[in-house]
Amino acid sequence: MRKKIAAANWKMNCTMQQAEDLLNNLSSANVNLSNDKISIIAVPFPYLLLAKQKLASKQNMFVAAQNCYTKRSGAFTGEISVEMLQSMNIPFVIIGHSERREYFNETNTMLADKVNIALEYNIQPIFCCGEALEIREAATQNSFVEKQLKDSLFHLSNEQILKVVIAYEPIWAIGTGKTATSQQAQEMHQHIRNVLAEKFGNDIANEISILYGGSVKGNNAVELFSQPDVDGGLVGGASLNAEEFSLIINAL
Ligand code: PGA
Repeated sequence: MRKKIAAANWKMNCTMQQAEDLLNNLSSANVNLSNDKISIIAVPFPYLLLAKQKLASKQNMFVAAQNCYTKRSGAFTGEISVEMLQSMNIPFVIIGHSERREYFNETNTMLADKVNIALEYNIQPIFCCGEALEIREAATQNSFVEKQLKDSLFHLSNEQILKVVIAYEPIWAIGTGKTATSQQAQEMHQHIRNVLAEKFGNDIANEISILYGGSVKGNNAVELFSQPDVDGGLVGGASLNAEEFSLIINAL
């Protein structure tokens, strides 16, 4: 059975003190996690070790980085390598968030390189895809997302694709308070699973967790997560409050 996942994406938020408070609250939160229902907390780089320490006793809650570079090491001032992440035992990394694509010009090809190097170092990518509003309005979202998947993931082996978590995040729903309806989410998730099945086969496609992201809140998570192809969420704003994020975890 594929895993259900509630993933937090703190983005570029929190001072050290705020990060510590939020992690303390998360570590004492009453959440139902198991081997099949996990939570992943993607914190800014400076707080990775703190997050690992604070959440060490929390079973099935993992720490993630929000990005990585395509190279192993070297003269790339300001970048973070997967080699560093691996040396800190960070099990997941978000790759290709729409904010990285938009503000830092990350292309499908570059993201394929990031996916490759993450897998090489045994770090599971949380690969983001999703369309902008114009594309949704032109009703071309299915082919757009399909191309993102093909360009960045279709070169992988069956064994490799099974390590990837996919997050569908329509850009028009991110941080806007405008959530996709559960039907819109289900339609796209089903499309993504079909595209994966065509390439990798049904059995593999059925094992891959596909998360929805874009204004997931405590009060809409149950409805979204009840859709058959929605295996959880990638949550920005609502993950900055431990109480609200706990509701989302418990909606899995
Ligand atoms: P949001 O962000 O929940 O604040 O809309 C989601 C994301 O960008 O991962």
